[in-house]
Amino acid sequence: MPQDPLNIADHLVQAGRPERAEGRHVNMPIELGSTMVFDTLAAFEAARDARYDSGTVYYGRYGNHASFQLEAMLARLEKADGVTLTSSGVAAISLTLLALTRPGSHLLVADHVYGNTRGFCDTVLASQGVDIEYFDPMIGGGITDLIRPDTAAIMFEAPGSGTFEIPDIPAITTVARAKKVPTVFDNTWATPLFCQPLLMNVDVSVASGSKYICGHSDCMLGIIAASGPLGEKIRRMVMAIGDKPGAQEVFLALRGLRTLRMRMAYVDAAGRDMANWLAKQPQVKRMLHPAHADCPGHALWQRDFSGAAGLFGVVFHPCSDAQIRSFVETLHHFGIGVSWGGYESLVLPVTPTRTATPWVEDGQLVRFNIGFEDPETLKADLAAALPHLNSAPERT
Ligand SMILES: Cc1ncc(COP(=O)(O)O)c(C=O)c1O
Repeated sequence: MPQDPLNIADHLVQAGRPERAEGRHVNMPIELGSTMVFDTLAAFEAARDARYDSGTVYYGRYGNHASFQLEAMLARLEKADGVTLTSSGVAAISLTLLALTRPGSHLLVADHVYGNTRGFCDTVLASQGVDIEYFDPMIGGGITDLIRPDTAAIMFEAPGSGTFEIPDIPAITTVARAKKVPTVFDNTWATPLFCQPLLMNVDVSVASGSKYICGHSDCMLGIIAASGPLGEKIRRMVMAIGDKPGAQEVFLALRGLRTLRMRMAYVDAAGRDMANWLAKQPQVKRMLHPAHADCPGHALWQRDFSGAAGLFGVVFHPCSDAQIRSFVETLHHFGIGVSWGGYESLVLPVTPTRTATPWVEDGQLVRFNIGFEDPETLKADLAAALPHLNSAPERT
């Protein structure tokens, strides 16, 4: 890649902004539009021929000045030649897998992937004749035994959705590269600030920009970062399907990136602080926070990541469903809801779906997203609700 003179802090502030001109706005405007017009037929034809290239203005569905700025900013963060934006994280994952597979091909998927990734594989891809095989996320270099001549791609993520295991990314990609099988990695949790998958030989880094990139729970966005012909192939698939983010979403993501560094530093510290506090509570059996030794792959997280997001799991000692419900509903400062990565704290009981490696943990798994509330308020809220878990039959 060409040397970029800006460091990450300066890049997040100075890139993706309007061209230099006296009296310019600080931010890219919300750029609405479908038709773009040209003064000559030759200029129109040149744009049409180059319409798949990020930066070529041709027609709104292929992008505009603002979305190209966002793509370029994200590409630099992910260390990719290019980024293609989609309307959601699910669209980014689905369209990437659609581009890489064909009827009759074999797709390896880590058993702990995000639920809708599994859903897309088991419904749409399976119905098209793709053979989906789930694998133990902790398999490491053992993935070599599962790769077949017809394996089209390997899909994995870190940490696992809900269960937070950290796989050995380089061990998997080393084998995959040697066997020429493209790897797709969901980098939503860490963001490119805490994990750079392409530097570990991942081929495609996908993410939900709806989480930390936008950062305020007000926007849906998907990100696909890849280099070379593979990136172009996936971009063409996205364009062929006609998926794209809206103008407001592009604006919100550009705005979110300005504060990403501070927000990630905050949730890293606040999430660890809350996890350390929770680990000392008698109702807690096990912390599934990658910075805790209890979490499978903790040492791999220390090796391959430079920070932790504010999303983690807690396994409580066995108790009834009614107890978990009353614990969760007693919390005043944690909303019950899916998604995460915004400014607000969230709580959600989780039941992992596993087919390759059964989830055998004896206890109740609950996922927490730590937001920007006063940590002492959150601890007091938890302290008041935790006694609802006390009368578990196994513990009395
Ligand atoms: C790890 C992960 N990947 C992808 C997605 C999907 O992203 P979106 O909600 O933007 O479609 C989610 C959503 O929760 C997620 O947690």
